[in-house]
Amino acid sequence: MNINRELTTKFAEVFGPRDTTHYFSPGRINLIGEHTDYNGGHVFPASITYGTYGVASPREDQKVLVYSTNFDELGVISFSLDNLTFDKNADWANYVKGMILKMQEAGYQIKHGFELLVDGTIPNGAGLSSSASLELLVGVVLEDLFQLDIDRLTLVKLGQKVENEFIGVNSGIMDQFAIGFGEIDKAILLDTNTLEYEMVPVKMDGYAIVIMNTNKRRELADSKYNERRGECEEALVRLQTELAIKSLGDLDEATFEANQHLLDDEVLVKRARHAVTENQRTLIAKQELVQGNLEAFGKLLNASHASLREDYEVTGLELDTLVAAAQKQAGVLGARMTGAGFGGCAIAVVEESAIPSFKNNVYDDYLKTVGYAPEFYVAHIGSGTTKID
Ligand code: GLA
Repeated sequence: MNINRELTTKFAEVFGPRDTTHYFSPGRINLIGEHTDYNGGHVFPASITYGTYGVASPREDQKVLVYSTNFDELGVISFSLDNLTFDKNADWANYVKGMILKMQEAGYQIKHGFELLVDGTIPNGAGLSSSASLELLVGVVLEDLFQLDIDRLTLVKLGQKVENEFIGVNSGIMDQFAIGFGEIDKAILLDTNTLEYEMVPVKMDGYAIVIMNTNKRRELADSKYNERRGECEEALVRLQTELAIKSLGDLDEATFEANQHLLDDEVLVKRARHAVTENQRTLIAKQELVQGNLEAFGKLLNASHASLREDYEVTGLELDTLVAAAQKQAGVLGARMTGAGFGGCAIAVVEESAIPSFKNNVYDDYLKTVGYAPEFYVAHIGSGTTKID
């Protein structure tokens, strides 16, 4: 299949024949380091080859026309550069509006409108960051169409602003960072406190990362995401009464344990304990991966899931069933939920030769307990957002 040619044909069908430019923006998985990015901790995500393709062409007037092959029923959505307010009826196009607005607010000149066709291969609502993928796609389209001098980190931060200020989800920087900075076959160890990062080769001889989709949609805005963030902020304030720390990411486990009485609330203890222990696990997991200790790496994935289930309470029946089924299969080194939780996807490190039986067995277990089927995709780590012409 020639994606470029097919999408050019589709673009011409929708908007008419034009000179077009093509772009790709990936989705992401997070290997480990969950719910640590808004706690000043480390994350370890990677961009995947599933993502969002974009075909764009400039217009001379102020109109922006967008069309998604994933939402054919919505047809062409249009708006004017003079009116970049959130509009429920604009549906997914709000991410486009938001990105244009945030770039304008940052001083970048978007002088005229454009047409954009998008085609997403990320399962929608699966927690693989289709929204951050779209934000960065639009950012790179605008950078290219308007010849803007904008560095990648600025684009990444503007994508996060869209999420926080335009869509209303108080998410951290992990998704946009992973998508903006991704490289083939590398994961990114990112310190969310300093934004220092290291590209880490992911070599898993004989093993693959399998993405398992619960097929339970997780709507970030509707989830308990913002509530968890608030709980961590409260925990930090209480710890700061005695400790000179800027974020939960500054704490090691021993210091946390010695001071957890300051929290004076069982729920806050659990939330903060997850943030602290997950940060430590992430740092160790990166070392184990670099040293080729895949078994140890897998065990840390299992421990991460247990902490997200018991302490952070963001898993639920679907993710727990999927992960437990995966963990007990032959040839599996570890499994955990990935992303925000409450549905969406999990990942497992599976011996390549065992993948067919792995899929069959996990499928059966999940269907029996949950009542509908999961889906599986082998993850390939691909490049960050880029022009592809
Ligand atoms: C979502 C958010 C990220 C991060 C994860 C949890 O994907 O967008 O910023 O907080 O959840 O690790």
